[in-house]
Amino acid sequence: MKILVTGGAGYIGSHTVIELQAAGHDVVVVDNLVNSSEIALKRVEKITGKEIPFYKVDIRDRESIDRVVHQFKFGCCIHFAGLKAVGESVFLPWEYYNNNITGTLVLLDVLKKNSCKNIIFSSSATVYGNPAVVPITEECPKGECTNPYGQTKSMLEQVMMDMQKADVVSSDPNPWNIVLLRYFNPIGAHKSGTIGENPNGVPNNLMPYITQVAVGKLERLGIFGCDYDTPDGTGVRDYIHVVDLARGHVKSLKAIEEKCGVEIFNLGTGVGYSVLDVVKAFEEENGVKVPYVIKERRAGDIAECYSDPSKAYEKLGWKAEYGIVEMCRDSWKWQKNNPNGFEE
Ligand code: NAD
Ligand code: UFG
Repeated sequence: MKILVTGGAGYIGSHTVIELQAAGHDVVVVDNLVNSSEIALKRVEKITGKEIPFYKVDIRDRESIDRVVHQFKFGCCIHFAGLKAVGESVFLPWEYYNNNITGTLVLLDVLKKNSCKNIIFSSSATVYGNPAVVPITEECPKGECTNPYGQTKSMLEQVMMDMQKADVVSSDPNPWNIVLLRYFNPIGAHKSGTIGENPNGVPNNLMPYITQVAVGKLERLGIFGCDYDTPDGTGVRDYIHVVDLARGHVKSLKAIEEKCGVEIFNLGTGVGYSVLDVVKAFEEENGVKVPYVIKERRAGDIAECYSDPSKAYEKLGWKAEYGIVEMCRDSWKWQKNNPNGFEE
């Protein structure tokens, strides 16, 4: 299938491009490079041995995005483009709503006008808020999002569901097919160690913080709280290897091909690890020390969040193959080989 990948130069997008090409799909990437580097795509080309048509386009720029969509006649769009820093979104709400909401609205309109009404959207487990029960199934109600970033994911899910519903109600002969993928906590990197997550400034997320401590860029990890109601008191999350996550997108094309209407899938492993579990696994697998200090709880954090990923297995035949050992190994390989990210 010919697939438009928005945000394809970013962390999850670049890994997904590899898996799409490996599965025989034709990929075109658009990205405005606000949080990524074209070097990532060059490295992907090296890994796959295939060229990636790339357009430096902001998805809010209707004319430019229309030109690309019109030219290629895509079978599906996989939509990663967006701003994603939870903490930053609290201080820059307008920028987050403008980029993520306006950008997606323009993209959806352009896709529709060009009769490409198939989309796979990067949503997040954050839409569940503080879950009443774990593991979280797709049936669990959405919860309160405590930050503008999370709001954009929740709102955009609703926008797309409403657009699909309108097509059904009006018996549109070419209705939308929409797959909403709720990612849990993606970490890890491609096994080559040449692409990976490259956060700007001091990382907010656990794994990039750990790897930057291990490589000597940061002194020690701060663990946000040790008094949660979890086995060791630290927060529990469902970490998923980014390559497994990428493959989840390839498998989701099956739902699109089967004209799914709207489908929601959790993409996680179903296993929860605490912060201390991750630190220990990282140290053991890589033979490096990660000094840490216990700090106050971080505002907005929840105790436990992990998925029931069985729907994706039943309907798409997808399940995560890698465990915490591979996640720690590959995150470290990327960081060790690229202490300054994509700077060459
Ligand atoms: P990323 O920042 O590495 O990738 C996003 C890409 O989108 C970047 O390359 C950026 O330059 C591009 N982009 C942003 N705004 C754009 C615009 N207006 N026009 C064109 N390109 C634009 O982030 P990621 O971790 O790869 O995340 C990909 C998607 O998955 C995002 O939508 C994110 O919200 C979502 N998500 C990520 C996580 C996570 O923990 N990484 C968890 C849940 C959901
Ligand atoms: N943590 C620390 N120290 C740090 C960073 C994190 O102790 O320096 C802890 C957190 O308190 C939490 C766990 O590590 O218990 C994971 O935190 P992350 O910041 O890595 O991830 P979150 O679960 O908070 O959020 C991430 C993304 C969200 C996404 C969510 C679910 O940042 O965008 O996963 O997919 F919505």
